[in-house]
Amino acid sequence: MSYQNILSTTTNSITTITVNRPKKLNALNRGTIEELHDAVAEANKSKDTKVIVITGSGEKAFVAGADISEFADFDEKNGGKLAAKGQELLFDFIENLATPVIAAVNGFALGGGLELAMACHFRVASVNAKMGLPEVSLGVIPGYGGTQRLPQLVGKGRAMEMIMTAGMIDANQALEYGLVNHVTTEGELMSLVEKIAGKIMRNSTVAIQGAIKAINANYTDGVDGYKTEIKQFGKCFGTEDFKEGTTAFLEKRKADFPGK
Ligand code: COA
Repeated sequence: MSYQNILSTTTNSITTITVNRPKKLNALNRGTIEELHDAVAEANKSKDTKVIVITGSGEKAFVAGADISEFADFDEKNGGKLAAKGQELLFDFIENLATPVIAAVNGFALGGGLELAMACHFRVASVNAKMGLPEVSLGVIPGYGGTQRLPQLVGKGRAMEMIMTAGMIDANQALEYGLVNHVTTEGELMSLVEKIAGKIMRNSTVAIQGAIKAINANYTDGVDGYKTEIKQFGKCFGTEDFKEGTTAFLEKRKADFPGK
């Protein structure tokens, strides 16, 4: 598939999807959101992809937010639709994806950019990264899940302060808050992400899918996460991966999982 606003490449079972509008600091316009959905969906289906990495093009930004020029003249109805469509098409879609998705936060991750990073399963940042939800400075609130996912990751009080002040935190503060899992130099960001992806890929793809479902169940209204865990746990016992994983352990060798 060819894209206008993003790049997608697959090497060693890792699909790297790069938002590629560096002159606009990779701001998410409608086309970019649609292309991101398509690229993520394609990678999720592909047997060649075991881990997806999302990052931004250029040295300055991961994604500096939703494209403000696209919604500046929206009314109430269109504003609501923008958030609903974006959440369904991209942010909830990524969060619930069966394939692990890592955000490589390589610069500004603001507004929709931080919301995109937070929808990924976890985040790794370069030391120059700056993160925030500055929407209230524009007279609006985060609309791509930011009011929900930020408190889940950093706690309610910190999220309240970040959102109310519209301020930015640096990578080390984000690490302290638990918003990102690791911080490294700009030059080493992708190799660190690949190293983590390599550790993930050694494990059972189907078991990882079950774990993602069970973990996410804790954050889904009306769903009992413990019950989801029991169901997903039980399902594992019917898989080839379970047979291979347990047999390999008992035979004192490394498991060789069949993959997707
Ligand atoms: N939407 C649309 N365009 C954006 C954008 C966004 N969210 N963020 C940056 N851009 C554009 C700028 O308009 C500028 O375009 P231009 O060269 O055609 O004028 C270009 O990207 C470069 O940005 P600029 O502001 O000149 O860079 P800077 O280094 O001075 O500042 C930021 C960087 C990130 C602090 C600043 O761009 C910014 O505050 N962006 C908006 C962040 C935001 O509020 N995001 C939440 C949106 S809901």
